[in-house]
Amino acid sequence: MRKHIVAGNWKMNTTVAEGVELAKAVVEKSAEIPADVKLIIAPPHTHLYPVHEVVEGTGVGLSAQNCADHEKGAFTGEIAVNMLAGVGCEYTILGHSERRQYYGETDEKLVEKIHLALAAGLSPIFCVGENLEEREAGRHFDVVNAQVKNVLNTLTAEEMAKVIVAYEPVWAIGTGKTASAEQAQEIHAEIRKTLAEKFGALAEEITILYGGSCKPSNAKELFACPDIDGGLIGGAALKADDFIAIALSF
Ligand code: 13P
Repeated sequence: MRKHIVAGNWKMNTTVAEGVELAKAVVEKSAEIPADVKLIIAPPHTHLYPVHEVVEGTGVGLSAQNCADHEKGAFTGEIAVNMLAGVGCEYTILGHSERRQYYGETDEKLVEKIHLALAAGLSPIFCVGENLEEREAGRHFDVVNAQVKNVLNTLTAEEMAKVIVAYEPVWAIGTGKTASAEQAQEIHAEIRKTLAEKFGALAEEITILYGGSCKPSNAKELFACPDIDGGLIGGAALKADDFIAIALSF
């Protein structure tokens, strides 16, 4: 049985004070969530330590949104994996399309980052997804398979077992346009098939999340699909009630 996960990517939203309040509300309401659903929140870097103090010991996991591609040194403005682990992070999002698109994050950089994250004991939430042009050209399978293989095929099975994959079609992020359950299921199944080519039966154990305008009104249909194991939530994760309602959709 795969782990069900609902993760909230807060992106560049909330002040520290607002973030602490949001984390407290999530923790308070997390009592309603079935035991087989794991909640994770990914606040901005500046919030990690105070939010860690809120979530510590509650079962709500803490994730960063990114990490540096070097271990330490003269990399002004970057945050290293051991710094994230040191403030209580257990996870880090990697390869979010906003980082690929706006900050030139390449598969090569992601290979560096994923190995550093795993070595620091963090579980990567590794994002893949095609843009609208690629989808309209019918290239979504090829694009996503290449993103999966270029990075995840560099891992050992032991490392891969710690990775969470998130499929986030770029055209569905923050647009209100969700992939249909059918579109999402078909690509999740494809990702699992691609993982199985390299990792065999382990692919059946890997949690694959859907992200892109996932909200309380559509989560149930998405989570009912056999290869969709939860969600990576943007906008709706900024309201504790919506975030919890999504987690109650299994
Ligand atoms: P939205 O839920 O706001 O579409 O964002 C999804 C996302 O990018 C999560 O990482």
